[in-house]
Amino acid sequence: MTSVVPSTVVHTRAPGKINVFLAVGDLQDDGYHELATAYQAVSLYEDVRARHADDFSVAFTSTGGVDIAGVPTDESNLAIKAARLLAKTTGYGGGVRLDIDKNVPVAGGMGGGSADAAASLLACDTLWGTGLSRDELLRLGAQLGADVPFALMGGTAVGTGRGDELSPALAQGQFQWVLALADFGLSTPAVYRELDEHRVRHLADINPVRQPRVDSGVLQALRAGDPGLLADVMYNDLQAPALHLEPGLSAVLELGEQNGALAGVVSGSGPTVAFLAPDLDGALELQIALNAAKLAVVRASGPVHGARVITD
Ligand code: C5P
Repeated sequence: MTSVVPSTVVHTRAPGKINVFLAVGDLQDDGYHELATAYQAVSLYEDVRARHADDFSVAFTSTGGVDIAGVPTDESNLAIKAARLLAKTTGYGGGVRLDIDKNVPVAGGMGGGSADAAASLLACDTLWGTGLSRDELLRLGAQLGADVPFALMGGTAVGTGRGDELSPALAQGQFQWVLALADFGLSTPAVYRELDEHRVRHLADINPVRQPRVDSGVLQALRAGDPGLLADVMYNDLQAPALHLEPGLSAVLELGEQNGALAGVVSGSGPTVAFLAPDLDGALELQIALNAAKLAVVRASGPVHGARVITD
């Protein structure tokens, strides 16, 4: 039997995500909306290194140049909450020091905080030897945030409920994305609130009960690995409220579509805009064009693995 020595470092990695389709239903009593979404995990990663400690702490760096200035490192941080939840659930008496290399944009609608939580759950479970099953980790993840289970699972999946009830979707091939990053964040609750207010103002009599579903064309496009088909059916109910809060994003969407993107969509609650390129060459050309227009962009491809332990 191997024993874990105090100098042990466990390294885990979890991906960011793009919602290639996101339909939002009505506000529920618990403050969440019923969703139907198709997630794709993409190759921007949060890398967590966990070490034994008496208490709980987190520190951030970003080798990819993500602006980490606004990320809290106190008890409100989702990685700390993940570690504490695992300790409480398993009765583990110690703490952890978490060092996170952040490469998913902060408050960008790509699930970076959720990826931190997923990678931290897996890192602590491995470091502490608490040995939870995958289903138990998924359940804990759902208590931390709607997108955390998907950051654990990765790949391509349909999410219902709050977005945390997952079923894997068949997918083949790799999709090439160019992501236009904003130099501001958008608050997820504020974007949902804007959607609700818009519906109350304009749509109350038309469609009182919404039952969100993922368009079958989305699943067909993912299964076929065909970016042209996917571009035709990409959709996000949160895009209109995000554009209402940040009108400048409309010009970003237009610019991408004029420069070879098959389609663009606000990612999750924004403000990151995800452009789907026809192939890698198309993505490189689009990246150059958007850079020339002084936009901060990164490329990513998907689908990729969910949270996993990395052997350095
Ligand atoms: O679960 P998470 O912390 O990521 O959610 C952040 C906020 O986004 C929630 O507090 C809620 O306002 C909103 N949300 C929602 N319905 C969902 C997911 C998130 O209203 N299904």
